[in-house]
Amino acid sequence: MEAKNISEKVEYLLSIMTLAEKIGQLNQTGTTMVSALPGIEADIDGWVSDMMEGRISQEEFSKRMELCREDLKTEQIENGGIGSFVNLYDDEKIFQVQQAAMKSRLKIPLFIGVDVIRGYRTIFPTPLAMSCSWDMDNYRRMIKIAKKEAKVCGVNWVFGPMLDIARDARWGRIVESPGEDPYLASRIAKTVVNAFQENDAYGRLLCTAKHFLAYGAVSGGQDYNTVDVSERTLYETYLPPFRAAVDAGVGSVMSAFHDLNGVPCTCSHSLLTDLLRGELHFQGFVVSDAEAVKQCVAHGVASDERDAAKMSLQAGNDIDMSSLDYSRFLPDLVDKGEVSVSSINEAVRRVLYAKFFFGIMDEPYRYDPGKISDTVLCRKHRIAAREVAEKSAVLLKNDGVLPIRDSVKHILVTGGLAEDRAALLGPWAFTGDKESVVTVTDGIRNNAPSGVTVEFCRGFDTSDSESGFEEMIKKAEKSDLVIAVVGESAFMSGEAASKVNLNLPGAQEKAMLQLAALSVPCIAVLVSGRPLTIGKLQNNPGIGAILETWHMGCESGNAMADLLFGKCNPSGKLTVTFANEAAQEPMYYNHPNTGKPGGKFKFTSKYQDAPVEPLYPFGYGLSYTAFAYSGMRVSKKKLELGDTLNCEICVRNTGLYAGEEIVQMYIRDVTASCARPVRELKRFCKIKLEPGEEKICSFALHASELGFYRQDCTYTVETGMFQIFIGPDSSKGEMLEIELCD
Ligand code: GLC
Repeated sequence: MEAKNISEKVEYLLSIMTLAEKIGQLNQTGTTMVSALPGIEADIDGWVSDMMEGRISQEEFSKRMELCREDLKTEQIENGGIGSFVNLYDDEKIFQVQQAAMKSRLKIPLFIGVDVIRGYRTIFPTPLAMSCSWDMDNYRRMIKIAKKEAKVCGVNWVFGPMLDIARDARWGRIVESPGEDPYLASRIAKTVVNAFQENDAYGRLLCTAKHFLAYGAVSGGQDYNTVDVSERTLYETYLPPFRAAVDAGVGSVMSAFHDLNGVPCTCSHSLLTDLLRGELHFQGFVVSDAEAVKQCVAHGVASDERDAAKMSLQAGNDIDMSSLDYSRFLPDLVDKGEVSVSSINEAVRRVLYAKFFFGIMDEPYRYDPGKISDTVLCRKHRIAAREVAEKSAVLLKNDGVLPIRDSVKHILVTGGLAEDRAALLGPWAFTGDKESVVTVTDGIRNNAPSGVTVEFCRGFDTSDSESGFEEMIKKAEKSDLVIAVVGESAFMSGEAASKVNLNLPGAQEKAMLQLAALSVPCIAVLVSGRPLTIGKLQNNPGIGAILETWHMGCESGNAMADLLFGKCNPSGKLTVTFANEAAQEPMYYNHPNTGKPGGKFKFTSKYQDAPVEPLYPFGYGLSYTAFAYSGMRVSKKKLELGDTLNCEICVRNTGLYAGEEIVQMYIRDVTASCARPVRELKRFCKIKLEPGEEKICSFALHASELGFYRQDCTYTVETGMFQIFIGPDSSKGEMLEIELCD
């Protein structure tokens, strides 16, 4: 539908709406993790802790949550008092609330918003894992399936992509992030927004760039903590992926929980109106994060919830997610003249425009019960989840023990996580079903070559218990290979899951060291939401290989088996830096050089008790084959401001296996008016090479992309010397110097 036609329809609707109906469109209800629907006494925070600490099962937790969801508030919907739901993902209940909306006077359908950030019923790897594929086709493949499954179930709004640059592994939500690099995150942002919102066979699906802005910079990596970053850092590091999402036409943006430089994002006019709308020209609507409007009181910026509602709306926050303060206080604020009808109209206009543009006015239901069972988790979707997961894993260490040799006839799988379906599914997968997960043991057993036996022995888990060690060691001594699955359970990362200790939880490290001391080859399969400090595994020759699989989702076991048996050659590369110690966080590759860069000399920038270099750098990842880089060339040694620089390099597969290599191009602005990072990612490509094959990788970079945000936050290109790097990760590669001239 043409924009002009939509605007006409919106204006007509606005003209006949009552104030109560308008405010209803700004009211989003539903059960979020932090509170239940009012009127139902529920201690959801307590229930979450009980579940995470094992006092109640996940089943018990879900049962209690269902109780909270019973109240669908259909009467309030029929009166036009609700415009959208958050996290209602029961197919039947979605149908019920839309039916209620169709009974309202104006029959405006509800937005049903759900966190579809890694698939809907078919659960794919976590967003951080996906980012390690550096593969935009991978994203498109996942999103097409997520869109299809969400739509047949009635979901018409996804709260994703999460675009928070994350440099601190102590922050649990790094698991949801696109990693630490603004350029890669911007490419992901554009891909995800286009894939969800393009008008394909399933129509458009509204998505949400979240969390605006700089949530990944919470102090100390402590979730919800204050964020204090310079404006220049905002422009240079945290804003680019949101700029990319806005440029791609993202329909909504979610304001973040935290205060940014002292002002809560949810009620920050300079953030939501001046920057987002004024400078980025964002045309969509803003939705707060869960109960973030109410939290302006706790921030100490709003005197009460009525004040919070007033400040948030006037700042440019259009929809109040689940605090219900807009619904409770806007009528009186308008009545008292403290909030103008025009500001209400402005917010409602943006929401209604989205409801027309994303097609729900014409087709409210998009709920197709006849198609659900044939669509969700179908074989084709599972195959995609398996192949996407394979491209997201990162091989961190391999002394040649992988791929598993034909001589291996008896495999021991150990570690509680190997059978922990919830852990293999991982966080932010509540629309999935852990029973759909293929465990590690099943995956390896089902895909092992004939004649290979696979045995599981728990041995240990993420607790401190060592009671299983003795049996594990006995069985390990009788096997040809030990596959130890170590890392984190599902709720050790994600929201409200910050940690000060990044070592393997519980007795896992101790178990690994005992296994490493045996004469049996041993590999570690990491299941984790975040980088962990696994130097003891990396530096122990008794552990022949480490495969970071993150949380792979429903096809975990099959994808791991394909990788371990060599059916698929690992190709993932890290998009977050692995520090040696948690105390080194935040640790990231694109840092300034400082005046005394860390090195051997005492008086340089480093810690006395940890290496200067990370355990694994950004962009790092091994393969079963090897790649050699040679013959780097640039089209010009002297570049002018309007020029394009063409760079190329030859990459050769010098090993025995076909494999994919992610070739990365970085720059360094050697001298500028601000200290520039030692490396900045500017291009990458993924190439597939047969053994002995070589290809030329070419990159084109316009001179305007050599610029940066100066002290006054203006984007400027400054002339001078630049170093151009092309290589396998952010710490290696060939380098050539060029000069940018006036
Ligand atoms: C949560 C998260 C946000 C999510 C929302 C709805 O608290 O911060 O990412 O979209 O609530 O689940």
